[in-house]
Amino acid sequence: MDQVVQYIDSHRERFVGDLAEWVRIPAVSSDPAQAADVVRSAEHLRAELGGLGAHRVEIWPTKGHPAVFAEWKVSPGLPTLLVYGHHDVQPVDPIDQWVTPPFEPAIRDGRMWGRGVVDDKGQVLIHVKAIEAFIRTVGKLPINLKLMVEGEEEVGSENLDILMRDKAKDLEADFVCVSDTAMFGRGIPSLCVGLRGLVYLEVRVDGPKTDLHSGSFGGGVANPVHALARMLARMHDDDGRVLVPGFYDRVVELSAAEKAEMSSLPFDEAGWLASTGSPALFGEKGRTTLERVWTRPTIDCCGIHGGFSGEGAKTIVPAFASAKVSARLVSDQEPEAIEKLLVEFLRSVAPPGVVVTITTSQGGRPYVAPTNHPVFDVAKRAFTRAFGRPTVFIREGGSIPFVRTIADVTGKPCLLMGFGQPDENAHAPNEWLDLENYHLGIKSAAYLYDELTRLSPQ
Ligand code: BES
Ligand code: MN
Ligand code: MN
Repeated sequence: MDQVVQYIDSHRERFVGDLAEWVRIPAVSSDPAQAADVVRSAEHLRAELGGLGAHRVEIWPTKGHPAVFAEWKVSPGLPTLLVYGHHDVQPVDPIDQWVTPPFEPAIRDGRMWGRGVVDDKGQVLIHVKAIEAFIRTVGKLPINLKLMVEGEEEVGSENLDILMRDKAKDLEADFVCVSDTAMFGRGIPSLCVGLRGLVYLEVRVDGPKTDLHSGSFGGGVANPVHALARMLARMHDDDGRVLVPGFYDRVVELSAAEKAEMSSLPFDEAGWLASTGSPALFGEKGRTTLERVWTRPTIDCCGIHGGFSGEGAKTIVPAFASAKVSARLVSDQEPEAIEKLLVEFLRSVAPPGVVVTITTSQGGRPYVAPTNHPVFDVAKRAFTRAFGRPTVFIREGGSIPFVRTIADVTGKPCLLMGFGQPDENAHAPNEWLDLENYHLGIKSAAYLYDELTRLSPQ
């Protein structure tokens, strides 16, 4: 390990440069006009992996954006780790709020700034560089390793199920590691042991065939904006508790031990609130903030549109209104069931005089890690070796559909070893990656591979 760690230390600068090169490719998966860039991003990664002695490096095409796969076979007697990440990134708007352009990575304040630096290209490259360090020093990895880097995570992993069915054999492993989450705070190595799931809906409410003069027609036909606003308002009570019947039926309450573990974390609630810029905390009564955002299901309206919003006044009854709605799910809620409840509820509260159309898209299932499995101790030790501080268990309110899918298909535990920071601006303007974390992340990954040799194939 000494040689490996030395290599990581002495190549620190180049590793940063290599990440910047990849970040320059604008792999925005939600924009069809950028599909060719997502392909270029996959090819860039394949080229980077090409020089690292993998037995296979492949691009896996899908109906949407391509994934990249690589495999290092060392010995059948050693455990096999599957590392997953994604190379696609979120859109960049509002573009005028970026201090430096999203696809021209800049270094300021010990951070790299750019779209995808931490979500998730930087975290994928952490593993690639750990692999490089072994290959260029010891000549081989200490375990068998597979790497699968998806190109559609930010758009709901639409074709992942098909890929996982077709490539089931290739993805077989003893343990899974995903680096696509954040640490609890600066310098605190954190293993994420729970993710929320997701359901996403688009609700459209149509009224008249065209905008109408609100003087001539207002009062005589239903206003779609009012109708939609009333429907959305029915979803919560005044404390933000969801009123959709059956929504909480399958929610598993935390055990006393889980609650105790969460409240032992050094959570700076005032600082957390300040980082959001919101004037006050808000949420379900009787739950702490961490419980609310990590372990409780929620519904959020992500966007709403309808009628006139230009300069000045325009007196109309709008022809339609629409909204996008997300629900975050926790164990044992199932996306299909919750989606059905939401659709039925919204239809049932639709006022008369409008036509409601609801479209749904691929969701994701929640994940709770089997933390009593010995691999969690191994991962804690590896993480602590790199950061020199005890590793804590945390959860995240976000979703990574792959995690639960692979856990269900293989029955193997998934280590969510993330190297982001809570205020890293993922999905927002000015996304950044802490370069010290990038460096220590590479060491953590290297220690993880090394420590996993203590476990036998499962
Ligand atoms: N890396 C995130 C998941 C995440 C979010 C981890 C928050 C830690 C904190 C991932 O890339 C992501 O953005 N997931 C989407 C999933 C969706 C598009 C299916 C999410 O959570 O909204
Ligand atoms: Mn991500
Ligand atoms: Mn993301």
